[in-house]
Amino acid sequence: MTQDELKQAVARAAIDYVVDGEIIGVGTGSTANFFIDELAKIKDRIKGAVASSETTAERLRGHGIKVFDLNDVETMPVYIDGADEINGQGDMIKGGGAALTREKIVASVAQKFVCIADGSKLVDVLGKFPLPVEVIPMAASVAARKLSALGCEARLRLKDGKPLVTDNGCYILDAVGLSITEPAEIEAAINNIVGVVTVGLFARQGADVCLLGTPDGVKKLE
Ligand code: 5RP
Repeated sequence: MTQDELKQAVARAAIDYVVDGEIIGVGTGSTANFFIDELAKIKDRIKGAVASSETTAERLRGHGIKVFDLNDVETMPVYIDGADEINGQGDMIKGGGAALTREKIVASVAQKFVCIADGSKLVDVLGKFPLPVEVIPMAASVAARKLSALGCEARLRLKDGKPLVTDNGCYILDAVGLSITEPAEIEAAINNIVGVVTVGLFARQGADVCLLGTPDGVKKLE
């Protein structure tokens, strides 16, 4: 099976977690896109969705799914999203698609985080995937220096030769070379750096369930 077929399989399996008549939180990325396409098939069963990025909002609307502003939603039963890495405890690195801040915000309002990922995302120790950190643009250099002091190389993410600008008007630093054996502590330490908006480490609130696509079928970790 290709990686896309594995992503499609978990996207299909995640439909079982959709709660009828409710609003669902939807993540960002290629796996989340497959999920949105599956969600479209049952769109009449849900009230609508909250999107974790402008790209996701556009795709949801394209399918005729109502997109709610998070300010109008107090809670939702489930948030479904991909990950760049996940460990056996449900700690994740996210933000490869630069949507980490809104992903973390929407996830914080959901009662359950369902992670959907192909099997290659499961790791013993997080950190091989560069850890995304969203920063206020004027703080990019100072935040990069502080991050480097944690033992990594902080690289400003570029797009077309210029700093990539997130949906929030911020930049992304990718922290390369961390071996994250204590995810919750590292999450707190990076969040404490002045100028950091969000770190793409989801440990304090990780995944409650992970649907992992493997050649032997979809495996559930919880
Ligand atoms: C976007 C994310 C994505 O969930 C993560 O990058 C995984 O993406 P994909 O499903 O394309 O492998 O965190 O900010």
